[in-house]
This record gives sequence, structure tokens and C-alpha cells, in this order.
Amino acid sequence: MLDEKRLRAVLGERPFRWYRETGSTNAEALDWLRQGAATGSLVLADEQSQGRGRLGRGWQTPAGAALALSMVLRPLPQDLPRLTMAGALAIAAMAEDAGATEVSLKWPNDVQVGERKLAGVLSEALWRGDRLVGAVLGMGVNVRVDFRGSALEGRAISLETACGHRLDRSRLLSLVVKHADFWLEQLDGDRLHCAWRQRVKLPARPVEVNGLRGMAEALGRDGALLLRADSGQLHRIYSGEMLPRPQVSDGH
Ligand code: BTN
Repeated sequence: MLDEKRLRAVLGERPFRWYRETGSTNAEALDWLRQGAATGSLVLADEQSQGRGRLGRGWQTPAGAALALSMVLRPLPQDLPRLTMAGALAIAAMAEDAGATEVSLKWPNDVQVGERKLAGVLSEALWRGDRLVGAVLGMGVNVRVDFRGSALEGRAISLETACGHRLDRSRLLSLVVKHADFWLEQLDGDRLHCAWRQRVKLPARPVEVNGLRGMAEALGRDGALLLRADSGQLHRIYSGEMLPRPQVSDGH
């Protein structure tokens, strides 16, 4: 059970705001950033009623079943695209520390176990005119979400299922924050990018990304997906969702 006292013990001096229930920790963190929150400040919630996902989607955080946290950051504008890489690497390392195997990243930054999604990362930036005020790095991890009978059954997984035993969410929180602090210190070097490339698993079968069909050929140094379209043309894609495409059978 997470509560204020437990969180203070885990987070030490770090400023944090804890909600039993809120709309979105990213929205709360952006408000706090606007009010001047220090870098590293954390917003956490036990339950989100309007959790935000990538590509304008929602994100479910049922009470007591997940980790939902958003970290306030003040990065340089050129480092913005790397925040989600750092978040995904932190969650992947935390999942392995907890005992999960077959942890990988699905381009761009979904954390998966086998082929199922374990966690998602969403960073949002706050600008005043052309000045970057800061950003929030939101991380959502399924710890004991029950997907049976839901639309996500078979596509999403909880960490407890992956590990096969009960987990302590405050311990997971302390791990993910420790790993996030580490990777966020590496935003401007090669190390983060190399680790991310090593973790991203490119499917060996045809895919569809943003309506383009082809093979995921490689990853660019800037995080782009290099997609060899069926036409033979190579496309650099910076954002989107990679969907599997059924192999065309030759009928034999
Ligand atoms: C995705 O679609 O994969 C990204 C999901 C990110 C969800 C997290 S949960 C904590 C933070 N608050 C939000 O509203 N979203 C992020």
C-alpha cells in the first residue's frame, strides 16, 4: 500500500505530490512546473481517471494496481526527444531488477515483456513563446492490473504476472526513480542512445507504421525508425505506432 509516509521514506528529500486519485499525473506535474517546481520533483497517483497515453490516447491506472508517476525536468530543448528514451530504459531496468525476463523496448518507447506491453512513457513539454520552461516525464507501469476480459487481454501484461510473484510498489518506485536519475544524467552523451538501441527489438516481419507498410530496417542516431517501404524507398519516422502485418502467404 502506498501512502505519504511510505513515499517520504522512499523518496528522501525529493519534493513530491501524492494523490489517491487524480485525472493525470502529467497534468498535475505540468501545473507544478508552471508554479516553479524544482527539477526532479515527482507527482504520483494511486489511480488516474484521465491518464494520458501517446498519440492522444488514454491510459488506465486502476487503484492500487499500477505505478503512475511524472517527473518535472528542465532539460535543454535539444534533449527533449531523449527524455522518453531515459524513462523507458529506467522502467526496463526496474523490471529486470524485479525479476522479469524477456524485457525489451518496442519502438519508440513501449516497454514490453515478450510481445506484451508492460509500461508506457509520455513526455510533455511546456513552452512560453519560444522558450522552453521545462518538461514532465510520465511513466505508467502495470504492476497488478488484471487485463482478463478487457480489450487489452493478450496485448498487455502486469509485472507481477511477468515475475510470478507479489511485488512491493514502493520498492519498484525506488528502483525506477534510481534508474531514471541515472539515465537522465546521460541525456547528452552516446551512452543513453547506445543502451536504447540495444534494448529496442525490431521485428523481423512486415510492419505498418503510420499507414506505411514495409520492414523495420534500423534505428537512426536521432531515434528515428528507418522503414524500408514495400516500394523500396527508405523512410525516417519519428513518431507513431508500429503494428504487425500478417505475412503474405504464397498459398502453398
Ligand atoms: C503510452 O501511451 O504508452 C504512454 C502512457 C504513459 C502513461 C503515464 S501514467 C503516468 C503519466 N501520467 C499520464 O497521464 N500519463 C503518464
